[in-house]
Amino acid sequence: MVSLRPFIYLTVVVLIISSCISASLVPIGNGYHLVSVAKTTDGALIGQLKVNGKNDVYGPDIPLLQLYVKHETNDRLRVHITDAKQQRWEVPYNLLPRQQPTPTTFSKQTKIQTTEFAGNEFVFTYISNPFSFSIKRKSNGEILFNTMTEKSSPYSSLVFKDQYLEISTSLPQDASLYGLGENTQPHGIKLHPNDPYTLWTTDQSAINLNMDLYGSHPVYMDLRNVGGEAKAHGVLLLNSNGMDVVYRGTSLTYKVIGGVFDFYFFSGPSPLDVVDQYTQLIGRPAPMPYWSLGFHQCRWGYHNLSVVEDVVENYKKAEIPLDVIWNDDDHMDGHKDFTLNQKNYPRPKLINFLDKIHARGMKYIVIIDPGIGVNSTYGTYQRGLANDVFIKYEGKPYLAQVWPGPVNFPDFLNPKTVSWWADEIQRFHELVPVDGLWIDMNEASNFCSGLCTIPKGKQCPSGTGPGWICCLDCKNITKTKWDEPPYKINASGTPVPIGYKTIATSAVHYNGVREYDAHSIYGFSQTIATHKGLQGLQGKRPFILTRSTFVGSGHYSAHWTGDNKGTWDDLKYSISTMLNFGIFGIPMVGSDICGFYPAPTEELCNRWIELGAFYPFSRDHANYYSPRQELYQWKSVAKSAKNALGMRYKLLPYLYTLSYEAHITGAPIARPVFFSFPNITKLYSLSTQFLLGSSLMVSPVLDKHQTKISVMFPPGTWYNLFDMSRAIVAKETESFSVDAPLHVINVHLYQNTILPMQRGGLISKEARTTPFTLIVTFPMGATNGEAKGKLYLDNDELPEMKLGTGQSSYIEFSANVANGVMKVWSDVVESKFALEKGLIIEKVTVLGLSGVHGGVAVEVEDNVGSLDLSNVEMVESDHMFLNELQGKGNKK
Ligand code: GLC
Repeated sequence: MVSLRPFIYLTVVVLIISSCISASLVPIGNGYHLVSVAKTTDGALIGQLKVNGKNDVYGPDIPLLQLYVKHETNDRLRVHITDAKQQRWEVPYNLLPRQQPTPTTFSKQTKIQTTEFAGNEFVFTYISNPFSFSIKRKSNGEILFNTMTEKSSPYSSLVFKDQYLEISTSLPQDASLYGLGENTQPHGIKLHPNDPYTLWTTDQSAINLNMDLYGSHPVYMDLRNVGGEAKAHGVLLLNSNGMDVVYRGTSLTYKVIGGVFDFYFFSGPSPLDVVDQYTQLIGRPAPMPYWSLGFHQCRWGYHNLSVVEDVVENYKKAEIPLDVIWNDDDHMDGHKDFTLNQKNYPRPKLINFLDKIHARGMKYIVIIDPGIGVNSTYGTYQRGLANDVFIKYEGKPYLAQVWPGPVNFPDFLNPKTVSWWADEIQRFHELVPVDGLWIDMNEASNFCSGLCTIPKGKQCPSGTGPGWICCLDCKNITKTKWDEPPYKINASGTPVPIGYKTIATSAVHYNGVREYDAHSIYGFSQTIATHKGLQGLQGKRPFILTRSTFVGSGHYSAHWTGDNKGTWDDLKYSISTMLNFGIFGIPMVGSDICGFYPAPTEELCNRWIELGAFYPFSRDHANYYSPRQELYQWKSVAKSAKNALGMRYKLLPYLYTLSYEAHITGAPIARPVFFSFPNITKLYSLSTQFLLGSSLMVSPVLDKHQTKISVMFPPGTWYNLFDMSRAIVAKETESFSVDAPLHVINVHLYQNTILPMQRGGLISKEARTTPFTLIVTFPMGATNGEAKGKLYLDNDELPEMKLGTGQSSYIEFSANVANGVMKVWSDVVESKFALEKGLIIEKVTVLGLSGVHGGVAVEVEDNVGSLDLSNVEMVESDHMFLNELQGKGNKK
C-alpha cells in the first residue's frame, strides 16, 4: 500500500511556507519614484522622491522625500534620505559633528542626465521607479550595497513613514559581517544569519543572549574575499531610534522606528582602513592615561574604607600588580551621587588613604549613576532643580527609581545640565580627589516603568537588595504614539513596550526632543558632559568608563561589557564583544574578570585572569552578593595573575603605543586575527583568539579541565612570549595543539616584529621607568629579512596624546639581516621626553636568525639620543635561534 502521509505532510508544509511568505510580503509601503535629480555646486546629488500610492501599514507614508548623496571624502560616501517638507529628528549635529545637508545647497542646481554618480572609490547608481540605489566599488565593480527588490525578495522597497522606516540590501552568499551591537554574539564575532540584532540601549544584563544590550551601534563591516583577495568596507546608519536589523545571510533589512536614513559607506579596503575611515567621521578614540592600562580592582560591597585599604594591601603582599582601586556606590551616602558616607568612608581617613596610594602612583575611581535622588536635603538635587536640568513629563521632572529610591534624570542634551554636571563634578573632586569616573545605569535604567508617583505615606527603600523592585505607584502610559509606536522592535528579546524599565519614551528633553528619539544617546550625552566636567579639573587627561555607548562614545571614554556571569560561556563571549567594540571605535574595553554574578570556580577565575590580563581594559569586578574574588583570594589564581599580569606590565609600553595608534588612526588595540591576515578566510570567524596590535596573538583556555588547546596559527613563525626559545612554525594556516596547563596562557609574537618591553613591576608608574628590551623576530632560520616596531611615550598627565609638545617621544625601530649581518636601528621622531626620563635599552633579543654568528651589528641613527642602542652589547649566542645582544654596540 502506498502511504499518503508524505503527501499530507508536504501539503501542510507548502501551506505553512506559502502563508509565511505571503505574511512577510504584505507590502508595508509601495516604494517611491524619483521626480527630480540634480547636482549642487558643492558636488552633491540631490533629488526628490514621491511615494507610489497609499499604504497605511505602520502609519501613512511620507509623501515627498529628499535624497542627498555626497562623496564626502575619497573613501566616504553619504546617502541621506529625509522628509522633503519637514525637519525630522536626527542625531544632533553638535554631539556628532558632520555636515548638515542644508536646503541652501539646493539653490544652484545643474540637471544631470546619467543614473551614475561616481566618486573616487564608490559609484552610486540609482533606478528611478521604484526608487532604489546601489553602491559599487569602483576598482573591481563589486556591488557592496543594493536596495533593489525583486518579486521574490523577503523585503519591501524603500519605506518611509513617521514611525517606520525600512530599507534592505542584498548581500552575496559569502560576505562576512561584523558589528551591529551591543550584543553578546553567542555565535562568535561574525554576524550569524537569523540571529536578532535589535538596537535600543537597555539595562539588559550581558548574560542575556541575542538581545538589545547597553549600547547602540548601527554599523557593520563587510569583508569579502573575491578570488583570494579580501576587501572590506563599512556601513553606518547614523540613527539613534530603536531598530531591528534583520540579517538573513544574503540580505539585511533595517526596520527603524524614527529619524532618517543617514548612511555612510567607508571603502576600506583593509579592515584597519575601515576603522580608520569610520573613526575619522565619528571621532578618534580618546587618549588614555598610562595608568589606565594597568590592572583595576573593583567590587560592589566594599562596605567600608578599611576593606578597601585591605584589598590594596593584600595585592601588594601577594605581589600582584594593581594600579587602580575602585568604589562602587558603597562610599555614597544613601546611594546619592557625589556624596560620601561619613560613617563608613570618613573623609579625613579617605583623604589620608588617597594621599598614600597617590604617592605610590596608584589611582582611585568611583561610580556615579545618572539618577539623582529626589531629596530636599540633597545639594546636587536642589541645585539641579534650581537650574531646571531634569527630563520632563507633562511639565514636571520625570520621576523614576534607581538605587537611591525616587530619582529624576538629568537631561544632558540641555547645555544648562552640562554646566551643572561639570560643577557637581568639580565640587565632588574637592571633596574626594578621584582620578576618573565610572558612569553606570545610563541606558537609562529605571526600576519602574511608566508614569510614577511616590506613594503617600510609604518610603521607598533606598539601597541594595530589594532596591531594584519598583516601589513607586506607576501606571502604564498608553496614550501617545511615542509610548506605543505602530511597529514594535524586539526590545528585551520579547516585544515589551520600548519604555519598559527606562525613561517613558514620551518624556521630553531640551527643545521638545522626545525620549523616543533621544533614548539611545542618553549614555553618550552623559559621557560627553562627564568628559567636559573632568577636563575642567587640573587640565588632566580624563578617564571615564561608561556602560551605555553610542556611535562616537569612544572619543570620550572606555567601556566594559556590563553584568556578565562567572561561567565558561561568558568567558568566551567576552572576546567577541571586546573585538566588536574595537570595530565600534571604542578600543579601551574589557569584561568583568571572573564574572560579575556569583560565583566563579577557582579554575575559571584562573583562566579568566589569564585572558583578562590581555583585555585592553583589565578589571576584576563583582556583584554585591558574590563571594570575594580579588585575585589573591585563591593561591592558584594569584599565581596565574602574577604570571599573566606580570607579562602585561612588561608589555605596557607596547599597549600604550597601541592606544596611541588607536587615538590617531582608530586601530583597535585588540583585533580579530583576520585584521592582520585578511585574505585567509579560515580566520573570518575565529572568535577564540585575538591579536593585540598587528602581531601579538592571545590564545586563552576557554573550557574547563583543559591542559592542551588547539590554536590556529596563520602562516609564519610565532614565538612563545613566555618562553622565547619555543616557536610554532606554520606552513599554512593550521591548528596546533599547544600546552596550556593551569598557569599558562599562550601568547605568541609573530615574525618580522620588534616588540618593545620593559621589566614590568607592580604599579605602572614604576614599571615605566625600567630599562627596555627589544624583542626582534625573524622567520625561523631566516638569513635575511626585516623587522619593525614602534614606541610612543608621553607625559600622560597632559590632556592630549600627541607629538610636538616636547612631552612625548616616538621611536620607530627597524632591523634587517642580509649577507650574514644583522642591523638594528631606530628613527627617533622626538627624543626629548625619553631622554629626560633617562630611558635606556638594556637588551635586544633576536629570534629566528640562522648563520649570522659573529656578524651581528647594532647600528644606531645619530639622532637616537633617547633610547640609546649604542649601550647595547652583542653577545654571540650558541642558541641558533636566540641571540641576546647586551652591552656595547657599534655606533654608526
Ligand atoms: C550595575 C553595574 C554593576 C554595578 C551595579 C551597582 O549593575 O553594571 O557593575 O556593580 O550596577 O552599582
